[in-house]
Amino acid sequence: MSLTSGGPRDWAAYYRKTGERPPRPTAVFALDRFDAEPDAAPRLVVDLGAGGGRDVIAFLQRGWRVIAIDGEAAAADSLRARQDLPDGALLETRTAQFEDAHWPQCDLVNSSFALPLCAPDQFVAVWEKIVGSLLPGGRFAGQLYGERDSWAGRPGMTFHTRSEVERLFANFEIELFEEEEDDSETPRGETKHWHVFHVVARLRAD
Ligand SMILES: C[S@@+](CC[C@H](N)C(=O)[O-])C[C@H]1O[C@@H](n2cnc3c(N)ncnc32)[C@H](O)[C@@H]1O
Repeated sequence: MSLTSGGPRDWAAYYRKTGERPPRPTAVFALDRFDAEPDAAPRLVVDLGAGGGRDVIAFLQRGWRVIAIDGEAAAADSLRARQDLPDGALLETRTAQFEDAHWPQCDLVNSSFALPLCAPDQFVAVWEKIVGSLLPGGRFAGQLYGERDSWAGRPGMTFHTRSEVERLFANFEIELFEEEEDDSETPRGETKHWHVFHVVARLRAD
């Protein structure tokens, strides 16, 4: 249990509840884009805030090498305990905050519903680290939260306007961009207004 974004969070329970759900559409979309490339081959993905591993399993099943980074040790524990880890899975788990973590150059940085949990004064440095770690033609897949999200203003979390999100991806070719506004329950049973940007984008090679 840790104190994150204003309240105590039992991440282990969250991982049990969500870890075996299907992978996020953004992660699958990015995988499909790589598979459609002429030189398609399994590559390296860094999953930031991997949680219980719902996306990690999809990457491993397609033969990718995965570095799964999460601030909670329970994430690595629940990932390693999964029964559906493919034989010979090329998986490395690391327990670290995004703000402190280092990772090698990679083809894809995937971060599903996790980057908004970065504090505003740290976000720019984390984002620069993400962009700087992508190989030419590499991709980002994941979510950012908008300013009309119910959680906007919570300490330790970062929210963006649509134009701010667009600016983050100025050096990318946008492949998927969906702005969602919806009222529904969180996995913890809290009703909230979601304002979420779902993005998959490819770093321009020039
Ligand atoms: C909402 S969960 C999402 C988990 C998974 N990506 C998914 O889509 O189900 C957010 C995850 O990010 C991790 N996290 C939050 N802030 C973090 C930070 N600053 N550094 C590293 N991990 C963080 C949490 O521990 C948690 O596992």
